[in-house]
Amino acid sequence: MKTRIALFASGNGSNVQRIAEYFDKHPSIEVAAVYCNKPDAYVLERAKNLHLHSRVFDREEFRSGDVLGMLVADHIDWIILAGFLWLVPENLVEAFPGRIINIHPALLPKYGGKGMYGHHVHEAVVANKEKESGITIHLVDEAYDHGVHLYQAHIALDPNETAESLAQKIHHLEYLHYPEIIETTILES
Ligand code: GAR
Repeated sequence: MKTRIALFASGNGSNVQRIAEYFDKHPSIEVAAVYCNKPDAYVLERAKNLHLHSRVFDREEFRSGDVLGMLVADHIDWIILAGFLWLVPENLVEAFPGRIINIHPALLPKYGGKGMYGHHVHEAVVANKEKESGITIHLVDEAYDHGVHLYQAHIALDPNETAESLAQKIHHLEYLHYPEIIETTILES
């Protein structure tokens, strides 16, 4: 039996695509499903093209335990957040202790917390004239962007960096490192 992961996403889903391709034909880990909180998110189109089972849910289902029921029905072992924007409720953190991973597009603890996601993060980093940014891959607990860090990668900002150019650099770093960190974290657990 392979370890089954569910990928949670809210939008475009380019990380979902990269992770799904990385684990395609992996000997011991498989992407079992894509979970999404936005019925019109492009990630659902990607899931279809990748022939991945998908689930869509609303806030009530997420908080009440219905999503937990879906995860149990899908025999999910690990939850991987990849561009997922809602705070994970306690019932899920308790059901998957140390088995929920998130990626954040900045060097936490800087530029984290509620409202700090996607382009908002890059805009703030550029506006503050930071010399560097990066990615943080971490375990998820009950607070936004708070759990134990698994990995960070840094990149320098150019003097004429824009939020758009920084977003591209950060996505590149994410594609490069996230699948491998997921793999080693699961295999070493
Ligand atoms: C990624 O950069 C991810 O780090 C970020 O959203 C983007 C999703 O891109 N996540 C957060 O900001 C979470 N706080 P994608 O949908 O193309 O993978």
